Amino acid sequence: MRILITGGAGFIGSNLTKRLVNEGHEITVLDSLLRGNKLDKDTYSKINFIKGDVRDAQLMIDASKGCDLIIHFAAVLGVDIVADNPVETMDVEVIGTRNAIMAAEINNIKKIMYASTSGIYGHSAIENALTEEVLVDPRTSYAMAKRYNEIYLASHHEEKGLNVISLRFFNVYGHNQDNRMVVPLFFEQALKNEPITVFGTGKQTRDFTYIDDTVEACVRLMNLEGCYIVNIANEAEWCISDLADKIKGIANSESEITYIAAPKKRYDYEVERRVGSSDKLFKLTGYKPLTTLEEGLKLIQEINYKK
Ligand SMILES: NC(=O)c1ccc[n+]([C@@H]2O[C@H](COP(=O)([O-])OP(=O)(O)OC[C@H]3O[C@@H](n4cnc5c(N)ncnc54)[C@H](O)[C@@H]3O)[C@@H](O)[C@H]2O)c1
Repeated sequence: MRILITGGAGFIGSNLTKRLVNEGHEITVLDSLLRGNKLDKDTYSKINFIKGDVRDAQLMIDASKGCDLIIHFAAVLGVDIVADNPVETMDVEVIGTRNAIMAAEINNIKKIMYASTSGIYGHSAIENALTEEVLVDPRTSYAMAKRYNEIYLASHHEEKGLNVISLRFFNVYGHNQDNRMVVPLFFEQALKNEPITVFGTGKQTRDFTYIDDTVEACVRLMNLEGCYIVNIANEAEWCISDLADKIKGIANSESEITYIAAPKKRYDYEVERRVGSSDKLFKLTGYKPLTTLEEGLKLIQEINYKK
């Protein structure tokens, strides 16, 4: 296939690009390099790379000419960055997705795979793992824009027959992630024997999905035709203090784990519980993420930090 990947130089995008290049797909990456370039040299040499902004409509049309699929992952993210830049976050999401849809229409591209987020569940009450049917509760500009785009894309399925796969990622971690995010940040603190800083009580839970599992799910889902919203989750609930403990152990660190008050601007992100169901993913693809947190963290230590 010929595929345009926006945000393909980022964490998830670079891992997915590498996999798709290795499978023989012809890839164009469009990325503003806001977070640097995480593509390795070999992969970079095998793709068509365009440095640019998804808000540039003409660029999106030109970049996707001749493609069979647009994988639209470009976004502004990271709790503090989004809290400090809500307007730009919204802008990149809404205008970028509008441009992806417009480019697909103009270039007769029949499918868009879009990176949404588990953040749209917000403070939804959960007794069991979150399914796609749960009433969502987006609270931040980032989560609201993601939900808006899911609906916007689905309306293009209804009206124009565009195939749409919206992916609700649950805390992806692994190779190429930068330390805005909790797993690489804790590793960095642990390896320097500095305090590992946990916000609040540390009892808040998340569902951590290893990058290779995430990429596998994406590759399987991109073959679907129709309109889908799909969780990509590990179905395991871990509290942040246990995550800190595990990383400290794996890094063989002498760090203290310290508990500090979360900055006020993080309030809407401080969801008490979040764990996702991957039943729908399994029904659609026969696949579920299987790497346990312990295994994933050991792989990170091995790949990124082994001396
Ligand atoms: N990592 C996670 O746990 C997670 C969870 C939920 C959703 N997501 C979504 O998955 C996608 C990929 O996330 P990631 O973790 O790889 O993040 P990332 O920040 O590493 O990648 C995003 C990429 O988008 C690029 N970008 C930002 N603004 C752009 C613009 N205006 N034009 C072109 N490129 C631009 C950045 O340079 C970066 O390379 C995003 O849409 C994100 O919202 C990620």
